[in-house]
Amino acid sequence: MKSKHILALIATTAAFVALPALAQDVSYRKDIAPLIKKQCAECHGADAPTYKEFTLSKEAQDKFTKEKTGPRTDTYELLVHIIAYPGTGSFMRRLDDGTHPLAAGKPGNMYKYLGDNDAERAQNLKLVKAWVGDGAWYLNRFKARGDVPGVTKEQLDKLKLDY
Ligand code: HEC
Repeated sequence: MKSKHILALIATTAAFVALPALAQDVSYRKDIAPLIKKQCAECHGADAPTYKEFTLSKEAQDKFTKEKTGPRTDTYELLVHIIAYPGTGSFMRRLDDGTHPLAAGKPGNMYKYLGDNDAERAQNLKLVKAWVGDGAWYLNRFKARGDVPGVTKEQLDKLKLDY
């Protein structure tokens, strides 16, 4: 085989091997922490309030929002707060690209920060979805609100969130 062909074969094989590996190997330390640091730290960094501080009152929330500050997302534990409990589904509601059935075609208001262009946003969304877990990309809150039921144990069981 010519070396050109061998290289093409290696590239094709590598692409096939890399795809299934994505869903399994995404971890907070390797993939998610650097992504959050790069894309979100400006407004969700170490000097921002924790989720509990942020949501303490409507006044606190309005004040922080006016200052362009969201709740801190710079540790694994604080991210779990806005995925599992008490901010159940918040991370997913804000980052969904609008294709989730409950999003009704409207991307979450933090989706635009996932990347600098459509391709980068799509790629990073894939990454965070794989990290949250296959089948765990729920937009439900802990309790029902309006027509939207509360999150189910089956949905929570699918969370991966590897550290
Ligand atoms: C330019 C500033 C800015 C950037 C960058 C930014 N955010 Fe936000 N974010 C905010 C502000 C301000 C709020 C609070 C107002 C609101 O709820 O929209 C917020 C709210 C949120 C919430 C809702 C928290 C809650 O109250 O339940 C989530 C989740 C979130 N951001 C995630 C992210 C993620 C993940 C990134 C990076 C991909 C990001 N944000 C990037 C400013 C920002």
